[in-house]
Amino acid sequence: MSSPEARHVSPWVDTMPPPDLGATDPRRLDADVLVLGGGIVGVTTALLLQRAGRQVAIVSAEPIGRSVTTHSTVKVTYGHGALYSKIKDTLGLDAAAAYAQANVTGFQRILDLVDDLGIDCTLERGRPHVVYTEEATKAEEIEKEAAVAQRIGLPVSLSPDVPLPFEVIAALHFQDQATFHPGRYLAGLAEAFVHSGGMVVEGVWARDVDEDSRICHVETTAGRMSAGYVVVATQYPFLDRGGQFARMKATRSYGIAGVLPGGVSAGMTINVGSPIHSTRTAHLGGEDLLIVVGEGHEVGHVSDTGERWTRLQEWARDRFGVTDLRYHWSAEETSTLDHVPFTGRIAPGSERVFTACGFDGWGMTNGTASALLIRDLILGQDNPWAATFDARRAATGLPGKEFVKHNVHVAKTWVRGRVGGAPKGSPADLERGEAAVLEVEGEQTAAYRDEQGTLHAVSSVCTHMACTVAWNDGEKSWDCPCHGSRFTPDGDVLHGPASSPLPRRNVQ
Ligand SMILES: Cc1cc2nc3c(=O)[nH]c(=O)nc-3n(C[C@H](O)[C@H](O)[C@H](O)COP(=O)(O)OP(=O)(O)OC[C@H]3O[C@@H](n4cnc5c(N)ncnc54)[C@H](O)[C@@H]3O)c2cc1C
Ligand code: FES
Repeated sequence: MSSPEARHVSPWVDTMPPPDLGATDPRRLDADVLVLGGGIVGVTTALLLQRAGRQVAIVSAEPIGRSVTTHSTVKVTYGHGALYSKIKDTLGLDAAAAYAQANVTGFQRILDLVDDLGIDCTLERGRPHVVYTEEATKAEEIEKEAAVAQRIGLPVSLSPDVPLPFEVIAALHFQDQATFHPGRYLAGLAEAFVHSGGMVVEGVWARDVDEDSRICHVETTAGRMSAGYVVVATQYPFLDRGGQFARMKATRSYGIAGVLPGGVSAGMTINVGSPIHSTRTAHLGGEDLLIVVGEGHEVGHVSDTGERWTRLQEWARDRFGVTDLRYHWSAEETSTLDHVPFTGRIAPGSERVFTACGFDGWGMTNGTASALLIRDLILGQDNPWAATFDARRAATGLPGKEFVKHNVHVAKTWVRGRVGGAPKGSPADLERGEAAVLEVEGEQTAAYRDEQGTLHAVSSVCTHMACTVAWNDGEKSWDCPCHGSRFTPDGDVLHGPASSPLPRRNVQ
């Protein structure tokens, strides 16, 4: 990244006042429903259940407003690239219609919550979201998406006239979509929840959940907690029992925000194809910023992640004339192999534990729709997208081509870590800024010497399911190529599904 003024933080985190949530002692939690996770899914679910008369508590590893939700592009839209046609092809037209109904409802619920609670989150309504292509070979994909969207009743139109300073070949327009500030939105929801008697505990990791016919027990880093129902809203579920990990991919994407030159046309857009460039504008810190997000890759599969920001920076400069960068950041998202979220009871036989994940980059509306669904399931109410979103299909679905490809790759990564092992070596040979996975005294060791010369050495075996972690040079972290867990050089968990640190190694 060649722009020293661009701060390494998400613009939303940087401009978010900390919410006023009081202080809850984890030992005094008393809840009908324990929600694990303080992102859009967790906070919305907690608020909706509280409004339905349940006593609810949120337990979150990160503080509210520090999770993926506040590292997103934050387009509030039910125009999801070319997903409707992909879902129609894999699961059928009815599933695509149920997905649309969920997301239109999630979209509307966000607008209603902002109005009801008077949340000051710079919500801008009435903005079009445009899905476009510059490649002649992709025009058909856009036309197909338009046809499927029209068949399931979405009001879309095709026109190559787009809010971009360059020409495109085909574009699909979803009118009346929205953007907001996700940190302010989450803070508004969480404050309303707390002011009505909800409890929030931050900085606590959940590690396991047991349930019987009456109650659930959650093992956490702050001790054991109990509740009638548990909602695992941790993005990637840290529980393996539902098999979701075998049908999900974790992708890391990169974001930049820079000053948009006056008079340059820019709107809420995304291309189909690769690399993705997703854009929107935002007025932050008194400036009009262009946000560009994309250049994604599966977590742990790329070491020189810094070059992803450079490529985004070049694209924003060449296409929009953006030269003054303000922010750069990255974040992780999960997607299911059939592109529909896993939301509902976490596993066959489980009655009291719920999950919601796999939003494929569209978690604002999918996350809100998932919160509505979990509320309905806990209250015993029907929900029109329950069958399509059902998380238990992860354990019961047939292994398709994508399933085999994904899991062969995970298995190969696992075996490579065990059988080939790491090269024998001495961390003493590492230069400043260098990292390597080495066999040291018979132990697989992930070692990094920082720019000050201090050596950080931890086990290289991921505490989720024992794959070998890989170095992420752009962000100075150990990332797991199997399901996307990330760790600091000292082994602390940055991102799940792992919830336990990599043990430290005492080597020189
Ligand atoms: C770069 C990028 C751009 C995106 N752009 C858009 C967009 O424009 N529009 C859109 O709709 N979606 C977008 N998304 C997707 C969207 O941001 C996510 O789908 C959504 O924020 C996920 O919300 P969540 O509540 O599931 O997860 P999170 O917001 O990550 O919340 C998870 C919570 O769980 C906690 N947690 C994790 N593990 C544990 C544990 N073991 N115990 C306790 N707590 C735990 C975390 O601390 C956190 O509070 C984007 C995603 C990315 C990565
Ligand atoms: S994230 Fe699953 S093995 Fe590492």
